[in-house]
Parts: sequence; structure tokens; C-alpha cells
Amino acid sequence: MKFGSIDIEPCAYGFVTALAPMANVTNPPFRSLARGYGCGLTVSEMVASHHLVKGGVNGLNALRMERAPGPGPHVVQLLGGDPALMAEAARMAEAEGADALDVNMGCPIRRIQHGCDAGVALMREPSRAAAVISAMVRAVKIPVSAKLRAGASAHEINAVAVARAVEDAGASMLTVHARTADAVHHGEARLSVLGEVKSAVRVAVLGNGGVASVDDARRMVAETGCDGVMIGRGALGNPWLFRALETGATVDVTLADRRDAALEYARWHVTFAGEQAAARELRKYIRWFYSGTEREAQVRAALPRFDSLATIERILAEVTRGST
Ligand SMILES: Cc1cc2nc3c(=O)[nH]c(=O)nc-3n(C[C@H](O)[C@H](O)[C@H](O)COP(=O)(O)O)c2cc1C
Repeated sequence: MKFGSIDIEPCAYGFVTALAPMANVTNPPFRSLARGYGCGLTVSEMVASHHLVKGGVNGLNALRMERAPGPGPHVVQLLGGDPALMAEAARMAEAEGADALDVNMGCPIRRIQHGCDAGVALMREPSRAAAVISAMVRAVKIPVSAKLRAGASAHEINAVAVARAVEDAGASMLTVHARTADAVHHGEARLSVLGEVKSAVRVAVLGNGGVASVDDARRMVAETGCDGVMIGRGALGNPWLFRALETGATVDVTLADRRDAALEYARWHVTFAGEQAAARELRKYIRWFYSGTEREAQVRAALPRFDSLATIERILAEVTRGST
């Protein structure tokens, strides 16, 4: 699949897999882990253009804009609704080493819609959405994509019109989170809308919303003709979903596999955030690796003891043996 000048290899089923941007989740270690398990494309957490342009590359923005160690393109997602600010933010992200940029046109948070005229507010004004893309495309040499919703609400389903407008403005790829923004992350994805967008544009289209298994991914592609799937919550603590898609084989996940992946993630996170901060933050991430298993309660009970990598290694060894 082509994203501008970038080639993304398909998985065993012939379509591309991507990890959805998730603020406070898909930091560089999370993206590295997903890539290591076969995910084709990852995107940074959203970076607010006004903070970036006014405050420079520091603090949270700098962390979010860090390249994930390992191979694969470094795509930075920007949030904003002002074409000039977004163009400047795009220049800054390119100068920091981004290989491509994505624009968040789906965030449903009221403060972002109404305070910043950004996120899904852009879908309510397709001409402004197009102006943002066109200003960015003129400002940088790297490709620019947009991540849309089906629409702002069930009464405002306009993904096809926005998709055409941003494609004409120069977007090289689109993702459609096929739910409306008022549904936030709940309910079924509207696959018919995704299919209509795919038929309406020439650029590659990724489908997003509710993919949590190989079957979900194959159904989304079969029903819509989209070029790939972008997976969000289905990838939390579940990098094996990318492996199963990449290899086309059934992946049986043992407790030892969970321990190994959780510790691989923990080591990346310690390198990224330092041991003290990481140990605290890992309470959130590591329980995901055990969710739905018979050891979930055991891991949850042990989380308050997470104070260093060595302790976490010891606890996960005990969990694997069933003896915390
Ligand atoms: C915790 C969380 C944070 C998110 N942050 C972002 C973000 O920064 N940018 C964005 O475009 N979408 C964001 N999303 C939306 C996801 O990218 C994705 O569209 C959504 O979760 C639906 O996909 P899923 O059903 O596979 O989870 C976020 C979702 C969650 C759950």
C-alpha cells in the first residue's frame, strides 16, 4: 500500500495493518512492540499544534513526537483547526524527523471541538478541513494523511464529502473511524460508510473501529474493500493480533508468552521514561497483557508492588508459575 512515497507491506491476508493513535497509550515503546509483532504502520499520539508552535518541541509534545525504536515510518499525528498553525506545526514535526503526518479529524472531546475548532469540528466544515491539509502539504515534503470519523453524529454523516475534499487538497491516505463522533468509541462501526469512502477516492483508505480479531479485520476488508485495518483497543496487551495477521497462522498465547511480551514492553518503557516513572506507569500497561486470562486477578493484586523493573520481573515470574 502506498502512503505518498512510503510503501507499507501487506499482512498475510493481503491488506495493511496499523496501530491506531491512542493518547496516553501508544507511546514509542508501545509502537515499537506492535511493530516487532508485525504491525505495518504506527501513528504517534496526537500532538496539539498550538502547544507545539507556541511552546516548542518540549515536554509532552517532545515525548509524543519521539520516533519509536525499530524499523518503519515515523508518522506524527497533529491536532488543530487553523491552517497556518497546522502548517507551522507540520514544518516543526518534519524538522524533528517525522516521515509522514496525520491530521486528527475525529476527536470528539468537547474542549477540542469547541475550544480549538479541531478534531471532528473539522468534519463539520469540509472546506476548512481541506484548507488545513492543503496548507500542510504546501509546507512540507513528507506525505500527509487525515483520520476521519463517519461523521460528527448520526444526522451528519459526511465522510465521503470530507474524504473527497481532503484528497483534492493533497492528502495521500485516509483512515476512517467508521463510528460517528457522538458514539465516541461505542457501538458497531458503520462499514457501509467506510465502503462508500473507499469507492469515492483514489488514495489508500484504512478502516478503523471495533477490530479485535483476525476475523473482524478480514470482515472489515471484505465488506468495504478498504486497503487495511487500523486497530485501537483490540491491540491493548495483545500484540499477537498483529502477529496472527502478519503470519496468517493461529497464534496460541501461553502465560510465558504473556510474561515475555509484558517484560519486553516494560524494558522499552524503562528506557523511554526512566525506571521510577515507568514502574508506576507500567501498572496500567502490564495488566492489559493478562486481561481475560485466569491470572488477571493475580496480576491486578500485585500491581501496587510494581516499584522497579526487577520487582516486575519477579512478580511476572511468580504469575507465570501461579504462585504470587
Ligand atoms: C485512550 C484512547 C486514546 C485515543 N487517542 C486518539 C488520538 O490521539 N488520536 C486519534 O486520532 N484517535 C484517538 N483515539 C481513537 C482511536 O485511534 C480509534 O479511532 C478508536 O479507539 C476506535 O478504534 P478501536 O475500536 O479499534 O479501538 C483514542 C482512543 C482511545 C481509546
